[in-house]
Amino acid sequence: MQYATITGWGKCVPPATLTNHDLATFIETSDEWIKPRTGISQRHISHVDTSELASVAAKRALAAAGIDGSELDMIILATATPDTLIPNIASTVQANVGATCAAFDINAACSGFLYGLGLGSSQIKSGQCKKVLVIGAERLSFFLDWSRRDTAVLFGDGAGAVVLEATEEAIGVLGYELNNDPDGRDILKAGFGTAMDRFEASSLDFYIEFNGQEIFKRAIAGMGKLSTKVIEKCGIDKEEIDWVIPHQANERIIDTLISRMKIPKEKAVVNIANYGNTSAATIPIAICDALEQGKIQPNQTILSCAFGAGLTSAAALIKW
Ligand code: ACO
Repeated sequence: MQYATITGWGKCVPPATLTNHDLATFIETSDEWIKPRTGISQRHISHVDTSELASVAAKRALAAAGIDGSELDMIILATATPDTLIPNIASTVQANVGATCAAFDINAACSGFLYGLGLGSSQIKSGQCKKVLVIGAERLSFFLDWSRRDTAVLFGDGAGAVVLEATEEAIGVLGYELNNDPDGRDILKAGFGTAMDRFEASSLDFYIEFNGQEIFKRAIAGMGKLSTKVIEKCGIDKEEIDWVIPHQANERIIDTLISRMKIPKEKAVVNIANYGNTSAATIPIAICDALEQGKIQPNQTILSCAFGAGLTSAAALIKW
């Protein structure tokens, strides 16, 4: 029996930061409004494309795993903000790391990294692949209307990557659950409009728009449901969970989720203050931060869960 374990990890966060106080110099907002409602203090803003952030994170993850890009069997890149629609930007990362393998992007919005982790682990467990690179990368700043305080304050740029490798030890991705609720697909969106919109309008923006309160409620319910499902599927007790690494969209969402699941608050990895919501990149960046801080130790059990446009949701249990 093959298992898929994480052997390398890396992140790339652009050096330029934009604090809440900086934002207040050009839109009508304040740290007093943003911080208590979201947990965010600052976000990082990239001057380079998503594929570059992804490539740096990927190279760091490969170096940590001690493998060469040429050894990879598959690259899965989760993003909702690719630099190009065609070709996929996994191919750019592939060229940058010197890999010759399958490579593709997936768009499951903020749940994208866990979708990728699930798919990658299944490729390994089925025997199809031995080494898979899974990346979550976003340059959301490019898709924001910087005059709109309701959306501009929430997001940031960044990338994180993990290397999954085959092992015979019963560790790694123990199980995962993925879901999508199409009824909510209009409450969070960005894009170029429908064919009719394009026919009628001479120019269209493609900025992110959402119904924050609706997302707030559905995110807690969606992540809670799939987390419970994956815990039951893997046959573990909630008490065995050492860390919860949730998608970082709002600290209050995380607090409510953790308290409803009756998991102690100190088990949640929360880093939204430094990065804002980096969509598909929040979870791999949080994994890197938790490791850098010495939180995650061998043999510990991690629950990760996410929620995003679609409305997608995902949860995974990982034995480190
Ligand atoms: N600064 C100051 N005032 C603001 C700002 C801002 N940045 N944004 C909105 N306001 C004002 C509004 O104009 C409104 O004023 P009004 O009452 O005079 O009309 C007031 O604040 C309240 O606005 P709401 O939108 O009702 O604020 P709410 O308390 O719902 O908080 C928030 C908004 C933080 C977005 C919350 O709904 C939320 O966290 N939602 C979930 C997260 C989310 O939507 N993330 C998007 C990505 S989705 C994902 O990652 C899963």
